[in-house]
Amino acid sequence: MARHLITSAIPYINGIKHLGNLVGSQLPADLYARYLRARGHEVMFLCATDEHGTPAELAAAKAGKPVDEYCAEMWGVQAKIADGFRLSFDHFGRSSSEQNKKLTQHFAAQLDSQGLIREVSETQMFSHTDGRYLPDRYIEGTCPNCGFEDARGDQCDNCTKQLDPVDLINPRSTISGSTDLEMRDTKHLYLCQSKMKDQLEAWIDSKTDWPILTTSIAKKWLNDGDGLQDRGITRDLDWGVPVMKGDQPWPGMEGKVFYVWFDAPIEYIACAQEWVDEGKGTDWERWWRTDKGADDVTYTQFMGKDNVPFHTLSFPTTILGSGEPWKLVDYIKSFNYLNYDGGQFSTSRGRGVFMDQALEILPADYWRWWLLSHAPESADSEFTWENFQVSVNKDLADVLGNFASRVTKFCRSKFSEAVPAGGTYGAREEQLFTDLATKIAEYEAHMEAIEVRKAATALRAVWSLGNEYLQEVAPWTTFKTDPEQAAAQIRLALNMIRLYAIISSPFIPDASAELIEAMKTDGSEWPTDIKAALTAMPEGHVFAVPEVTFRKITDAEREDWQQRFAGTRD
Ligand code: MF3
Ligand code: ZN
Repeated sequence: MARHLITSAIPYINGIKHLGNLVGSQLPADLYARYLRARGHEVMFLCATDEHGTPAELAAAKAGKPVDEYCAEMWGVQAKIADGFRLSFDHFGRSSSEQNKKLTQHFAAQLDSQGLIREVSETQMFSHTDGRYLPDRYIEGTCPNCGFEDARGDQCDNCTKQLDPVDLINPRSTISGSTDLEMRDTKHLYLCQSKMKDQLEAWIDSKTDWPILTTSIAKKWLNDGDGLQDRGITRDLDWGVPVMKGDQPWPGMEGKVFYVWFDAPIEYIACAQEWVDEGKGTDWERWWRTDKGADDVTYTQFMGKDNVPFHTLSFPTTILGSGEPWKLVDYIKSFNYLNYDGGQFSTSRGRGVFMDQALEILPADYWRWWLLSHAPESADSEFTWENFQVSVNKDLADVLGNFASRVTKFCRSKFSEAVPAGGTYGAREEQLFTDLATKIAEYEAHMEAIEVRKAATALRAVWSLGNEYLQEVAPWTTFKTDPEQAAAQIRLALNMIRLYAIISSPFIPDASAELIEAMKTDGSEWPTDIKAALTAMPEGHVFAVPEVTFRKITDAEREDWQQRFAGTRD
């Protein structure tokens, strides 16, 4: 039994996320957390809302609410939806928590004491029309790196380059659209990432098992242009963590707050403190301090590719540069983008399926299965309604659901709602044991390696073995001439339902729980000896025919949904 710390990139507070966001971090993180727990490991799975900075301010203004009120409300909405998708966080925190405020100020003081913070006098955009400085996302313009016209002030969505608002060509205010902008002088704190370059490079080079997507992005920004750039970590905003040196004022920084990307990843740690302070646990330091027991923790982070520079360079600078024994990430799993039906998901245009809408039309498992089995790992992937309908109808309804209902119904009609006695297992059954053991081992290996799509493919193959067996031995035919033998076949098949429920639970937790309940059995033990696991429900064990576990999506529904979620196309 090992100890695993798992974090998902923390979603911005501004609104409900779409399915592309979900599959890029929270959902695969949940899959991994559930799998490791099912294997008996001790898991700490953390996520939170990312509440500071301009996205929150802009959204609150749009909603006509004070920003703190808006955030509190949206945290509730996001927490409820996360629950709906069965995201099994040990704690879902908030980056605006008191714990994170203190910890962020602490890290800033530590970094300063290690000589990693310098003051920079910089010019910043002042908008006459809006009567304020325009940091980050209040400014959009053309990316100096790739020419993308709608690049944000902090990062270009097209080429992922981290930007400073003053880098943008033809900048405009996102509040008013005004281009009446003036450069003014103001002082800011910079994090000296460049001083950490060699250390970061050596660290990243040592991670030979990381996904190529992660290391290629990290290396690209490590060696971009003149090398790793120092980053401004303060902003002229009201909403955020006030700039303080620990609990002391920071001369010259009055009225400023830390940059949202500085405090957001620190929330991964503060989140564990919140978990303790809310009475859910007792010792957060054993997860986060290597001098307090976290040296034997394996820490895995999940995120979309746009988040990689912040997690491979900026946040490690905070951790390593603090000079304190904080736990550094061991493995970074990153994802490409999920596209929607021939274009991009678009929050601003309302294009695609958003998390709340998804749950309104179908249960979580349907989405979990499709999203995870099509996770954008080696390349971007695309959601289409046709593909969704085919996957659900085939994998979930025809293969898994049908197996469970056929077997239980046949048993009820020919025997009873109890595992039938009689008959023996022969060569065909021995073959099945071997095939199951092989495929399940493959499934486990992919899960350990966090190869999400490959794991889904292996799991689907395990499900298919059941149908192939049934098809071949045809208990409904056997029954006519040799009911004893049919009983043995059904006894085995009933036990396979239990086996499937257990191993499928990281993907489809609700259906798994339903099947376990119907089988009136215990699903808590992962099958390590397959043959033994297939005798867990002995002769005479009483069960119930499960309600329909998965239904099919009709053509009419598919067309209706396609229309409904088209949004305004670009
Ligand atoms: N809110 C960011 C996004 O959705 C992710 C922040 S992850 C953290 O892209 F590390 F900063 F916490
Ligand atoms: Zn760009």
